[in-house]
Parts: sequence; structure tokens; C-alpha cells
Amino acid sequence: MSTIALITGGNRGLGRATALALIDAGHEVIYTHRGDPGEKIDAVPLELTVGDIETYDDFADRLRGVLRDRFGREDFDFLVNNAGVGVHATVAETSVEAFDQLLNVHWRGMFFLTQKLLPLIADHGRIVNLSTGLARFTGDGYAAYASMKGAVEVFTRYLAKELAPRGITANVVAPGPSATDFGGGVLRDNEQVRAGLAKVIALGRVGEPEEIAGVITAMLGHDTRWITGQRIEASGGMHL
Ligand SMILES: NC(=O)c1ccc[n+]([C@@H]2O[C@H](COP(=O)([O-])OP(=O)(O)OC[C@H]3O[C@@H](n4cnc5c(N)ncnc54)[C@H](OP(=O)(O)O)[C@@H]3O)[C@@H](O)[C@H]2O)c1
Repeated sequence: MSTIALITGGNRGLGRATALALIDAGHEVIYTHRGDPGEKIDAVPLELTVGDIETYDDFADRLRGVLRDRFGREDFDFLVNNAGVGVHATVAETSVEAFDQLLNVHWRGMFFLTQKLLPLIADHGRIVNLSTGLARFTGDGYAAYASMKGAVEVFTRYLAKELAPRGITANVVAPGPSATDFGGGVLRDNEQVRAGLAKVIALGRVGEPEEIAGVITAMLGHDTRWITGQRIEASGGMHL
């Protein structure tokens, strides 16, 4: 029986790279998207806006339908909570609206989506939650964003403890700056920003989506089954 992964925000960026890496590794993939599902890949797209908690019952129903009709299963194996946005503002400038948007997708949305999906995750399944290097070191203008990710890291430790009796592991992957659309694409497209960051990254450059996807895939693999409640940073050694 093949293993099934569910990735939020799998239409582009790190979520898309992770979907492709998991497919390459022989897993079945279901991914969520808000609007455009992205270029067609060998995976099942499902619409979901993370943070719209009132739609989660309907999402779980649609997911159950896919699991049953397409895979003959009642559960899935890997949950990757990836969807997210960045907001760049100092503490002094952060608006209530921006704060609430971050809270809703990164923290409130992830918490209750995970809660909703717990009965659908198979025993001995795996959860990977995306955080950020910015939850360990500081970067100008990321107080609200990084604080939400800090909450994700604490949540993940509690999740690991609570789900251990079912043999389910829960870990955090915390990427450093990675070349995606994130932050308007500056980490991919702005050579000045990339060069500035390269100076504080031990390995001397920003990360590529495939490098983060590789770490997430490894954390879902058989060889990492004894790791739970941990934070794995994939930043090329930023601010060591
Ligand atoms: N790239 C980095 O440098 C970096 C570093 C550390 C951590 N991260 C984290 O890694 C994750 C992925 O980031 P990325 O670099 O792949 O960013 P990205 O290229 O901007 O992609 C973000 C993805 O999240 C989805 N998304 C955003 N808000 C959503 C919502 N409310 N509901 C559903 N989907 C939503 C987007 O969907 P749409 O296409 O519909 O917008 C898109 O699929 C995020 O949690 C981010 O905080 C990224």
C-alpha cells in the first residue's frame, strides 16, 4: 500500500517542490490550493483557504471522498502544514489587520486544521510543520511573522507528545531564506538582497526550494521515524 501525503499550499513555492519530491520518492500526494492549482502534476488538488475555519468540515469531507474514491483508504499518512505568507513590518508599524492575517493562516488556521485532520491521519503517520529560521535569530521587520512561527514550534512539541501513543511523529522544518515567491520574490529575484543574506549564511547563499523539499521529505522518511518533537533548521547555517 502506498503512503499518502497532504500538503497545504502545494500549488507553488516550497509546497510545490515538496509535492514533487514526495512524488519522486514514490508517495501519493494530495495538495491544497486557494485559487490557481498550478501546473498539472501527478497529484490531487483540493481547494482550501487555510484560516477559513468554518470551511474545514467541508474540506475534511472532500478529503475523505478523495481518500476513499481514489486510494481506497480512510486515512492518510503525512501532513505537511506549509501554506503561509510573509508580512514585513517593524513592531511600530505592524497593523492589527496584518497581525490578524498572519495569526489566521500561520497559527490559528494551522492549529485547527491539524485538529480537524487528526482522525484522518493514520497511526504511525507523520506531521511536518513549517516554521522559519527567524524564530531562532532576528531579522528586521519580522516580529509578528516570526512570533507566529514560534507558536508553531511550541505547538509541534505538544502535538508530538499528544500523538505519540498513536505512533505519530510531529516535527518542525525551519527554512532559512529560500528562493520562492515569498516576500514578493526578493529572495529569488533581488541580487542585492541575496548577496546581503549570503554574507550571514555559512554556506554562502540562499536556499533553493528543492533543498527545503529534500529536508521535509527526509523528515517523512522511514529513516527519521525516531525523531519527534524536534526543530530541524535548513538555512545553510544562517547566523551561526
Ligand atoms: N521562502 C522562504 O524564504 C521561507 C523561509 C522560511 C519559512 N518559509 C515558510 O514556508 C512556507 C511556504 O513558503 P513559500 O516560500 O513556499 O512561499 P510562497 O512561494 O509565497 O507560497 C506560499 C504558498 O502558501 C499558500 N498560502 C498562503 N496563504 C494561504 C492561505 N491563507 N490559505 C491557503 N494557502 C495559502 C499560497 O497559496 P496562493 O498561491 O493561493 O497564494 C502558496 O501556495 C510558509 O509557511 C513560509 O512562512 C518560507
